[in-house]
Amino acid sequence: MSICRLALFALAAAPLLAASASAQQRPTGAELIASKCFQCHSQAMWQDQRQDTKSWEANLYRMVGRGALWTSEEIKLMAEYLGANFGPAGKEAR
Ligand code: HEC
Repeated sequence: MSICRLALFALAAAPLLAASASAQQRPTGAELIASKCFQCHSQAMWQDQRQDTKSWEANLYRMVGRGALWTSEEIKLMAEYLGANFGPAGKEAR
């Protein structure tokens, strides 16, 4: 009996799980940056800075201290993007 109920539950939940998996495609660091920094200030606040990934990560945690609601996963992705594109040897000429 309980096995039967379990099977019913699995059948009922399967489409839900599939739908939420496809709806929640993980955003890239660039997309996160584009959507999340403007909530408090323009990108003029940070676009001229050149820091490595670790320093950017510390910088982002400072934003959390100022009220940003981000997961540590989001912070990691954003710090990697910033470190790669706004790093010490960044693409200054852009
Ligand atoms: C919850 C609000 C908030 C969000 C969201 C936010 N910031 Fe900030 N940020 C601030 C405040 C407040 C300051 C200080 C502004 C000032 O000094 O006038 C600041 C300043 C900065 C500075 C200057 C250095 C410093 O620490 O003062 C950098 C760099 C920076 N932000 C980067 C970012 C980046 C990159 C993002 C997006 C990933 C972001 N911030 C998102 C609130 C935020």
